[in-house]
Formats: sequence, C-alpha cells, structure tokens
Amino acid sequence: AEALPRKNSHGIELTDPIAIAPLQEAVEKMRGKHFLGGPIVDGVMDKAEEPVVNPATNEIVGHTANTDKHLIDRAYTSATEAQIAWDRLGGDARAKILDKVADLYEKHINDLTALICLEAGRTLNDGISEVREAVDFCRYYANGARKHFSEPQQLPGPTGESNELFLSGRGVFVAISPWNFPLAIFTGQVVAALAAGNAVLAKPAEQTPLIAARAIELMHEAGVPAKVLHLITGTGAAVGQPLIEDPRLSGVAFTGSTETARLINKQLADKEGPITPLIAETGGQNVMIVDSTALPEQVVDDVIQSAFLSAGQRCSALRILCVQDVIADNLLNMLKGACDELTLGDPSKLETDIGPVIDEKALGLLEAHRERMQREAKPLFAFDEGKKPGSGTFFGPQVVEIEDFSLLEREVFGPFLHVVRFKAEELEDVIRRINATGYGLTFGLHSRIEGRAHAVFKRVHVGNTYVNRDMVGAVVGVNPFGGQGLSGTGPKAGGPHYLFRFADEKTKTINT
Ligand code: NAD
Ligand code: ALA
Repeated sequence: AEALPRKNSHGIELTDPIAIAPLQEAVEKMRGKHFLGGPIVDGVMDKAEEPVVNPATNEIVGHTANTDKHLIDRAYTSATEAQIAWDRLGGDARAKILDKVADLYEKHINDLTALICLEAGRTLNDGISEVREAVDFCRYYANGARKHFSEPQQLPGPTGESNELFLSGRGVFVAISPWNFPLAIFTGQVVAALAAGNAVLAKPAEQTPLIAARAIELMHEAGVPAKVLHLITGTGAAVGQPLIEDPRLSGVAFTGSTETARLINKQLADKEGPITPLIAETGGQNVMIVDSTALPEQVVDDVIQSAFLSAGQRCSALRILCVQDVIADNLLNMLKGACDELTLGDPSKLETDIGPVIDEKALGLLEAHRERMQREAKPLFAFDEGKKPGSGTFFGPQVVEIEDFSLLEREVFGPFLHVVRFKAEELEDVIRRINATGYGLTFGLHSRIEGRAHAVFKRVHVGNTYVNRDMVGAVVGVNPFGGQGLSGTGPKAGGPHYLFRFADEKTKTINT
C-alpha cells in the first residue's frame, strides 16, 4: 500500500497562557496523586509495592515492582501464541492501530507531560517535546508498516518464474529502555517492533515505570491486543536474566548505557539456539568544535541548549567543547554570563531551565566527577550552589578546562562541560582525538568557513552531525538518530531503515 504523507506533531505553545492552562491544571491535579506501575501481563496489572520517587521533591509518586519470573514466563507464552495473528493482520491494519495510539497520546498530552515531569523530573518543555516525539514515532512507524509490511515486493526473474520478497515479524521482541526519555524512547522501540509484526515484552527503566504503564494502557486502548504487548517492570538485575535467557526471545531493542549493551550482547552470544539480534543505542562522548569564524552569541545559545538543558541528561548532549584559542576567553566569558541567568529548580514551573538529575546515584556520580575535576582539571565556573533548591537531586552546570580527552574515560551524564582549547593548525588532531574516543553519537561544528562543514563531516565517525546549531533534539523522520562504535549498532531510530531490523525476510520463488 502507498505510504500516506505525514507531518510532525504540534505539541503545546508554552508562551500562550490559554494553551498552557490545562497543562498547569494537570500538574496540580496529579501532584499528590498516587500512580501504579507494576507489571502488566495479559492486560492485568500485578501488585506494585516498591516506591517510585519524584527526583525534584523526594516525594513518592507511585509504586512499582520487580516482575516475578513466573509472570515473565507467562508473558512469553502468551506473546509467542498471539504474535502469529498479529503478524498475519498485515501492515495496513497494524498501522491503523498505531495511528490511534498517536491520537490518544495527543488527546492526553497534558496528563502525559505532567506525569513525565512528576516521575522523571523533566521540565514541562522537555515533557511536551517528548510526547510529540512519541506521537511522531507512532505515525512514522505506522507509515513504514503500511509501506513495507502490507504487500510483498515483486522481484524480477526469468520468464516463467515469479519472485516475491516478504517481510514479517521475527517473533517476540524484548524492548529495554532508559529513564531519560521515559515515554519517547519507550514508545519508539515498542511501536517499531509492533509495526513490523512482533509481540513485545517492554521493560522500562526502574526509575520510570509509571509513565510506561500509562503508555501501555493507551496502546491497549488503541487496539494493540493485551496478549501481544506486556509490561515487564523491574531492575536489570532482577528481570534482565529471565528476559534475555528465554529461548522464545527473537530479538532485543536496547537503549541505555554502553556497559549494559555489552552485557546483554554477551548473554545473547552465550545462549543456545538461534542467533538473536540486538539493536543497541547507547552513550556518547559528544564534541563540538568552534573555530574563530563562529558567531559567538549563537554558539553560547547552542552550548547552553546542548550541554545544560534537560540537566545534560541526553545521550546526544555536548560533553567536550573544543574552542579555537583566539576566541576562547571571550566565548567563555559570554558563556559564564548566560549560565548565571539559568534557573535550576522545580521542573513543573515554566520559568525553570534545569530540573533535577534522576536519582541519588546519578547525583553521587556527578559529585564524584566534580571532585576529581577539581584535582585533575582547571575549574572555570560553576552554578551558584546557594541557588540550589533545598530538597531533590539537583546538580548545577559545571565548566572545567581539560588538556586532553583521555581524562574522560566514560560518559559523564549530566550538565558537565569540559573545554579544550586548540590552535588553528591543530584541527586535524582534534578530529583524530574525537575518533579515538571510540564513541560516535553526536557532533557539533560552528564555523563559517566554506567547505569546512563537509570536510569535517566526512572525517568524524559519528552518527549525527549538526552545523551552526545546537546538537540535541533529533526530530523523527527529519534527523534519524543513532550512533556508531561504542554509541550503538544502528539502524537509526526515526529513520527509513529502522523497521527492517525488526523483521524476517523471506523470498518465494514459483516456477509458473
Ligand atoms: P542503563 O544501561 O543503566 O539502563 C538502561 C535500561 O537497561 C534500563 O531499563 C535498565 O533497567 C536496563 N538494564 C540494566 N541492566 C540490565 C541487564 N543486566 N539486563 C537487562 N536490562 C538491564 O542506562 P540508563 O542509566 O537507564 O540510561 C542512560 C544511558 O542511556 C546513557 O548512557 C545514555 O547515553 C544512554 N541513552 C542512549 C540513547 C541513544 O539513543 N543512543 C538515548 C537515551 C539514552
Ligand atoms: N533523540 C534525542 C536527541 O536527539 C536523544 O536529543
């Protein structure tokens, strides 16, 4: 069937008081409420007794649970059986249901945004963007299902022979997602696997099961059969093994840290039976190069957006800023001025720029890194600690200067910027050092030198390059997103090749 034309979703205009009022009401109504995010198998939620904490206030927002291994077994049995009919339904029919999921998300944008804010501490602005991205994923993959999974592709052949290529679901996919995009990434993985004709066991991060449970409810309401889609809540340590080791597993879509991806890859490799594919989207050590021709005001805006907003908790976030020496002092002064204006605090307030980091563990890692940088790097400036809220896991932006990238062996996941100065003749060396990190997620360049953007783009081994703009906020179908090397296996989420990795390919040749 023909793919329908599509547009990206709209969201809510934050500067319009009339448009924003229902969102503010939703936040107030939901604050103090109690939500449940336990496992959902065959459409029924199991008990949920572990507290889920709002990182901005340390208050309990709801409860979750580690899914019992017998329940995981039941989910596999149910999903394996139900997948056959779901696959046979065909791309067109599945697409209708997934479009309905998008419509329901749009209808509930206020409640969903409020829950993202209360559970994950994301600002309202980030929450709205996330619902929009989730809606875009649904419609984009629905369109892909229509286009590629409805009719077989006719292939050429000799006279008297017909050749056809069919795409179908692989079976049961496990979708494992992180807390930093608790709705968008969770939805993107699940919907892609469903669009291709798979049943899904969806495992959200243990920090954000409540928004995941709400998403599953809406997907079931839209018409995804309860036996096709199950929610498996819990920590990686508690549910990872029974999920990965089950012989009925047909594929894993994972987004999270490089370390966890490696562990899952090993477990899959050691399994008896069929070779199980892993799609892994992982961390980054993302660099921006700013040369002497860049526009400083724009660079400052883009650095703030890329390094500090969303509390730096984006895999795409800027971690290392390489500035040409002749403009460095001026640029850093301007950046300090802009940082002083940032508001750290309650993410449900419109004026807040930066909310909390996700939990005590994340805060502890950032504080330990700050201590280490105080010894091993040159601190340049830091957010005024006196302006930090009294409770909650808040960490203000930090900027330090380092001599060499090798000081950063691993991703630092928060609003922490490392500055490196370079001389004009050292550009090649900077590119070599970027590639030597082994990561390859996002890269930014600010330069007005004609031809430099393309020359540098060709040399850096990263998935997403952004020139003369910020380097976060990839848009579905516009900036297909994903990295290379330590940053992931590809294919790109929100890109034209993503669905194929969730599918089996079969050909049929008939001598007519
Ligand atoms: P994480 O690896 O700790 O956890 C991710 C998910 O894996 C969670 O659901 C977790 O419970 C699960 N998990 C942990 N151990 C497991 C195991 N042994 N078996 C099965 N599942 C297990 O990562 P995180 O802290 O939740 O997320 C932050 C990380 O995600 C960062 O490294 C960030 O860069 C990365 N990330 C990457 C992308 C991308 O598209 N490349 C997007 C967002 C986040
Ligand atoms: N897709 C997200 C971004 O581009 C991670 O920021």
